[in-house]
Amino acid sequence: MDKLVIEGGKPLSGTIRIQGAKNAALPILAASILADGVVQLDNVPQLLDIEVMLQILRRLGCNAVQDGRTVTLDTTGTRSAHVPEDLMRQMRSSIFLMGPLLARFKEVHIYQPGGCAIGERKIDLHLRGLQALGAELEQCGGRVTCRAERLVGTDVHLDFPSVGATENIMMAAVLAEGTTVLTNAAREPEIVDLQNFLNQMGANIIGAGTDTITIEGVNQLIGKRYEIIPDRIVAGTLMIAAAATRGAVTLTNAHAGHLTSLIHILRRAGVQIATSDGIINVTCFGRPRAVERIVTSPYPAFPTDLQSQLMVMLSLCDGFSVMKETIFEGRFKHVEELARMGADIRVDLSTAFIKGVTRLYGATVEATDLRAGAALVIAGLAAQGRTVIEQVHHIDRGYDQIEHIFSRLGARIERYSPVSRLDFANG
Ligand code: EPZ
Repeated sequence: MDKLVIEGGKPLSGTIRIQGAKNAALPILAASILADGVVQLDNVPQLLDIEVMLQILRRLGCNAVQDGRTVTLDTTGTRSAHVPEDLMRQMRSSIFLMGPLLARFKEVHIYQPGGCAIGERKIDLHLRGLQALGAELEQCGGRVTCRAERLVGTDVHLDFPSVGATENIMMAAVLAEGTTVLTNAAREPEIVDLQNFLNQMGANIIGAGTDTITIEGVNQLIGKRYEIIPDRIVAGTLMIAAAATRGAVTLTNAHAGHLTSLIHILRRAGVQIATSDGIINVTCFGRPRAVERIVTSPYPAFPTDLQSQLMVMLSLCDGFSVMKETIFEGRFKHVEELARMGADIRVDLSTAFIKGVTRLYGATVEATDLRAGAALVIAGLAAQGRTVIEQVHHIDRGYDQIEHIFSRLGARIERYSPVSRLDFANG
């Protein structure tokens, strides 16, 4: 298992281009199954999760190739509606294949993705939405089979604005007979990206980005070329890292409009943010001020995917902050690791009470999930001394060579891969 070694205490400085959005690319790759012909996607990040999705598509019979940041998919050969269990367990986001496979084959076989480090990750909202469109469910152990003679548009209301359920229902409805109106839909920018991709291929969807999405069923989608939006969570991670190290960083290919909640919080903390078309400048002179209360909520509110990263900056602020996590029930696993570095954070159920300290100290810590791992990198960059981060594969799921990203901003960060016996034998 790879490790990252960081010599902290150096302010970040420089310019970095933001990668394409993982959470837009994954549903869009799944949605490619709905189209006849070839789909070409640009600005696709090179990540473990993307490679797993491409492996699943190949196992389903698609021809899927990633060359740099471009993915070319020919789904003509898609023959199977059975999502492989071993790959399903590797990546929860394979649940996005339910809607497209049901729409194309009128049946789909998946496995309950199960919980992960951040929470239970139920799929009841996905299943109820597909049932509303006409699917019949069979559940046997962890295996779920959906079948539908026909998919017929209808009104679907989500009890909670689930991102994945919104996307799955959109994809199942796009070739259904008639109109589907999805209410209490999630409003994330990645859902707008999925709508724009599907419409470019001939779908008829309006309302993504609001809480009501209307999908008029069409007969066919034709594969097209499409560019994925920038990754707002990677951009937010780098903005927070610039603030936590009291640096000055410029982000390019960055969409400030997707980060208004974070920009508002950083400005309240005294961080200087300047934005223009595709550019975000972050400058932090001196110690940021504490922010008294932050609550994670569905977009456009402050995103749960930046909660652990921001907590690192808050643990270095001057004063006392409170962070409440309302989306996932287990997303504070980074707190224990930060405490090993000198952070003063007390957790009571879903609320963290953060007392700012003047510095963090390097330590050996473990990444427990994707965003907690990114938070530990920020902590290592800001800390005095050396930090070793283990279980780095969690971070590689969402950040394209994170050590290169931060090296380009002046950080002293190295990746160490265990020397395999063969390498050792070869000297
Ligand atoms: C997406 O996950 C993102 N993943 C997550 O990012 C992100 O944290 C999350 O949305 C919230 O913004 C991708 O887009 C690939 P949800 P998703 O359905 O769709 C409950 C990252 O770090 N729920 O909005 O799984 C669920 O348990 C990842 O990039 C149900 O109860 O999130 C959770 O508590 C982590 N029943 C809450 O809703 C359901 O059927 C939010 O889940 C579905 C969800």
